[in-house]
Amino acid sequence: MMRGAGFPCGVTLALFLAASHLHAGSTVIAKKAALSTASPAATSVGLHVLRNGGNAMDAAVAVSFALAVVHPQAGNLGGGGFLVYYDAESKSVWTLDFRETAPRAATATMYVQPDGTPSTKSRTGARASGVPGTVRGLAAAHKRFGSRSWKELIAPAASIAREGFRVDDELQRELGEEKSERCIDQFPSTAAIFFPGGKPAAAGSTLVQKDLATTLERIAVLGPNDFYEGETAKRIVEGIHAAGGILAFRDLRDYQPVWRAPVKVLFRGYEIYTMAPPSAGGFIVGSVLNILSGFDLEAAGFQTATAIHLQAEASRRAYIDRNRYLGDPAMTRIPYRELLSSERAAQWRASIDPQRATPTVTLMQPAAAPPESSHTTHFSIADEAGNIASMTTTLNENFGSGFIVPGAGFFLNNEMDDFTTAPGKPNRYGMVQGSTNAIEPGKRMVSSMTPVIVMKDARPFLVLGSRGGPAIPTTVLQVILNVIVFGKSLPDAVAAPRFHHQGLPEEIFYEYERAPEPLLAAIRKLGHGVRAREPIGDVHALQFQNGTIVAVADPRRGGAAGGY
Ligand code: GLY
Repeated sequence: MMRGAGFPCGVTLALFLAASHLHAGSTVIAKKAALSTASPAATSVGLHVLRNGGNAMDAAVAVSFALAVVHPQAGNLGGGGFLVYYDAESKSVWTLDFRETAPRAATATMYVQPDGTPSTKSRTGARASGVPGTVRGLAAAHKRFGSRSWKELIAPAASIAREGFRVDDELQRELGEEKSERCIDQFPSTAAIFFPGGKPAAAGSTLVQKDLATTLERIAVLGPNDFYEGETAKRIVEGIHAAGGILAFRDLRDYQPVWRAPVKVLFRGYEIYTMAPPSAGGFIVGSVLNILSGFDLEAAGFQTATAIHLQAEASRRAYIDRNRYLGDPAMTRIPYRELLSSERAAQWRASIDPQRATPTVTLMQPAAAPPESSHTTHFSIADEAGNIASMTTTLNENFGSGFIVPGAGFFLNNEMDDFTTAPGKPNRYGMVQGSTNAIEPGKRMVSSMTPVIVMKDARPFLVLGSRGGPAIPTTVLQVILNVIVFGKSLPDAVAAPRFHHQGLPEEIFYEYERAPEPLLAAIRKLGHGVRAREPIGDVHALQFQNGTIVAVADPRRGGAAGGY
């Protein structure tokens, strides 16, 4: 019966997988509807929904489930995310928080080793997982804004899982990285699907995910409660307990997404709508833009050392506030208004020397250096009626905890590592966070995910978001500044070299393949340390321009834009 979910409208699998008109890192100029996602196959699924009369929310649900199949690094059933949605009929912006929560049995010190450092159990294995929010999140968003049936929207993902998809270079490489770094092939349920013969699934091979297909078909037919109270819940809890984790039936049953008021940031006549806490993204975007509003960025110039210095110094200060004050708003009083006030921005601005880096240690307590990392995935969708979905979802690290729920076929997140797992010590991303983000039962961990919709004169102007861990807000900010301040086209704004400062370490990260050496030398002269890293972020963005929609997939990775 479950297999009967099938394809909508008699469409064949080839339609979703051929996608030959979709090119990685593409730009598409569309007249009516458009989208950009991290996977050509997911973009093709979304395009099909839009072309067949589905709205942006329908496409977002179909794309999300498709990403769980074809982009298992960050697309997910076992993780969480944030949605910013523009409803064209009411001309209003909505935000949905389907972030994971700590299980009831979690404690503040559950990952602290005798020497005070965090154990690897917050990153790898069944104990690393928060309570997943994606399935109830998508269901809540679909219930409010969707127009096509839930079952029909899950069908493409289920079919791709059952019939298989072609593994790309990125998936093979990233499986290999997580095998070397975290041994995610140690879990038999993971090895059986992603490491045939003990090796990462090979680029060009067809990856079939039968258990995932069955799980998707069950959720399609029985609804989201299957995941939280039914057969899937049983497999999750039994699998986790057998592997030493703590997540319980009650945690799943009680999980609820939350509709929140969006953060609205005013900048040069634009209204930037994004996520409130537990996302730190909206806060950082607001704080950095408030601080920068007192500087003449145009005069500093596009991609100059001075402009990058000012952005880095503003970011440094925003991340200090982030790490000190942000937490789950249900459990922590966050002085949000004060932190985003013009007085606060003026105070921080006064501490910036336009000619010289300010060491973070002179502004806050020092801490150790970080590893480098960037995961998560974002997609942007606009439909013919003008509705817009800007959605970022994550398992935290690539493939989350690395632990596939036995018999259910999907990865569980390792979002517990986004809590302060050892107070005063850096987490995976080098972030040193305060007690406001300490682990407590039922609490949401602070996130950097920053889905955004920018409005101008009460009309949608820009839609974007990115992957990138703590570099998500600074990535999103740079694209916004490139368009609004420096007047760049969206493809150029997305392609421009990126830089990232998060307070600690005392360095500006730069993209080693993109940042020109003379620019780095000029940044060093201003007193900054610089550190090379892999491409920063993976932006999927739309711009509304002269009656068209420009859809851009970041050239750094293998995503694709589409539209018509
Ligand atoms: N786990 C990545 C984020 O929430 O920002």
